[in-house]
Amino acid sequence: MTALLEAKDIGVRFGGLDALSGISFSIAERSLACIIGPNGAGKSTFLNVLTGTQKPTAGSVLFRGNPISGLPLHRIARAGIARKFQIPSVFPSMSVADNLDIARRGTGSAPALEGDVIELIGLSAKREVKAGELPHGEKQWLEIGMAIATGPSLLLLDEPTAGMTPQETQATARLIHRLQARLAIIAVEHDISFVRALDADTLVLHQGRFFRRGPFAEIEADPAVRDVYLGRR
Ligand SMILES: Nc1ncnc2c1ncn2[C@@H]1O[C@H](COP(=O)(O)OP(=O)(O)OP(=O)(O)O)[C@@H](O)[C@H]1O
Ligand SMILES: [Mg+2]
Repeated sequence: MTALLEAKDIGVRFGGLDALSGISFSIAERSLACIIGPNGAGKSTFLNVLTGTQKPTAGSVLFRGNPISGLPLHRIARAGIARKFQIPSVFPSMSVADNLDIARRGTGSAPALEGDVIELIGLSAKREVKAGELPHGEKQWLEIGMAIATGPSLLLLDEPTAGMTPQETQATARLIHRLQARLAIIAVEHDISFVRALDADTLVLHQGRFFRRGPFAEIEADPAVRDVYLGRR
């Protein structure tokens, strides 16, 4: 079986320093992977390589078997890789429904998940509410909705629960499990209660290399992982 996305031997060098080296990774359709690791480990850089915003200095990325490293960003997005950034990107004076509509039209592609998105993100009752009036958590869910409005097959999330209450964080884990029925997701996260709730295939990035990969329970119990990361939290 071909992986949905496969990264082979990725290296990224900034100045004289390796931010990533020898990174290999693959993810199948409709599966969930969670990346954890200390500050500066290279997590965001890795997501940047997958979306094309960071050109790797070594290695290649294949999406559905086709090389995508070096393609213009819009081509990578159109191929089906979506990303939610940490910076808010909703239009605050527009309604929830209009924000989703704009996101869907933005790329001019077919509305693959039309109708469903607002329900999936749990905002059906807030269709006409201005995005700027939503509480923080719901604004983040709207952004996830905007990222998936065109029906991508891979969604990348960089610290999706930053600034959320514990309740919002748990609701976000449930949202991600609902989304997983439709698309593959890679989530980078620091909040261990969230990673535990996701209970996913977990990768530990340390000093630019994948240090461990396994089910969360196994990762959490690993003394070496505690040494480099979890023990400090
Ligand atoms: N554009 C850049 N130019 C130079 N160095 C960079 C650049 N982007 C990241 N770095 C460096 O690369 C390393 C990895 O950074 P990255 O942002 O990927 O870490 P991270 O794991 O996402 O950290 P955090 O948990 O703090 O978000 C760090 O040492 C960082 O300073
Ligand atoms: Mg980061």
